[in-house]
Amino acid sequence: MKIDEFVMERWQSEWEHAVDYNISESGVKSLTLEELLSPEELVRLAKTNLGYIQTDGTQELKETICAHYTEAAPENILVTSGSAEANFLLMWSLIEPGDEVIFMLPNFMQIHGLMKSFGGKVKTFFLKEDLDWNPDLDELKTLVTKNTKLIVVTNPNNPTGGQLSEESRQAILELSRWADAWLVSDEVYQGAEYDGIITPSFWGSYKKAIVTNGLSKAYGLPGLRVGWMVAPPDIASTTWSYKDYTTITISALSDRLARIALSPEKRNSILERTRQIIRANFSILESWMDKQEGLFQCTPPRAGAIAFPRYNLDINATELAHRIREEKGVLIQPGDQFEVDYHIRFGLGEDAKFFITALDLVGEVLAELKA
Ligand SMILES: Cc1ncc(COP(=O)(O)O)c(C=O)c1O
Repeated sequence: MKIDEFVMERWQSEWEHAVDYNISESGVKSLTLEELLSPEELVRLAKTNLGYIQTDGTQELKETICAHYTEAAPENILVTSGSAEANFLLMWSLIEPGDEVIFMLPNFMQIHGLMKSFGGKVKTFFLKEDLDWNPDLDELKTLVTKNTKLIVVTNPNNPTGGQLSEESRQAILELSRWADAWLVSDEVYQGAEYDGIITPSFWGSYKKAIVTNGLSKAYGLPGLRVGWMVAPPDIASTTWSYKDYTTITISALSDRLARIALSPEKRNSILERTRQIIRANFSILESWMDKQEGLFQCTPPRAGAIAFPRYNLDINATELAHRIREEKGVLIQPGDQFEVDYHIRFGLGEDAKFFITALDLVGEVLAELKA
């Protein structure tokens, strides 16, 4: 089977460790084990048995995850290696060649690439900047038919940091019900909201809603590779059997650490740290953009360690990103990798000082281009 290159992921894989300043990440600066655990917890962790664990996730972790959803039980949960594996297993098990599937843009393009590879006929709709990164609902209506098998959204969204309004959520639910389609919502940025109000999950709003999530973004724990799906029991169990062919299970250490990270007190302090980082860095970005004399327009993000401003220069985003990387050793994420050119995705998860230095270097390239 041929696959399309996953351009954004390739970009990061190739360059993120080869630059001095990586401000292309979409999650907050990752935590160390010492920051996550108390000394006593660290000692207890050393006793973890490094065997295989229950391959769909330990009962304890599934119960911990369930507590964050209304009316979810352990049989609704499949624990996966990152939310990326949950997305993969869903597409692999749900899509048959010729299926009509609908995908939101701009977006993290994993599911888009998978849908195409598994033979789906992909229709796309765009979030609109002038609608605060919400879809044009009339346009969306024209795409959905009685043959639509699957509608996929990412909420909160990557790369825009936008959140679906209640009106958009209800319209998407209504369309899914009308078409009797699966509604898959990637919610991996949930928990990183600026206003501290957790983005409502699609789980529980519709019998064919499936959500994916994980610890990589709002929790700053991407190296644990912990994700999950919440799905009707038959989907959770079918995808579990598909997982027998992929990673079998997550590691015992990750399962244990995930339970700790998701415990109420720890989770609150992790998410508070996340909010502080993104609020501080977005305000740095705003002041920096103000100094660029009208070069940028930015709809403020509502969630996620990302902002997605438009720039007014006649240079393609990938070309601009290469130039910034080659000349200044700074990695940014070009908007055309998300199908929206003339935009840059800035990662807002790093230390403030690091971020300011990186932005100043980006500013030097922009000044040359303007001159
Ligand atoms: C929307 C979205 N989903 C899934 C992922 C994959 O994350 P992970 O597998 O680390 O949970 C990413 C990573 O950037 C993402 O942006």
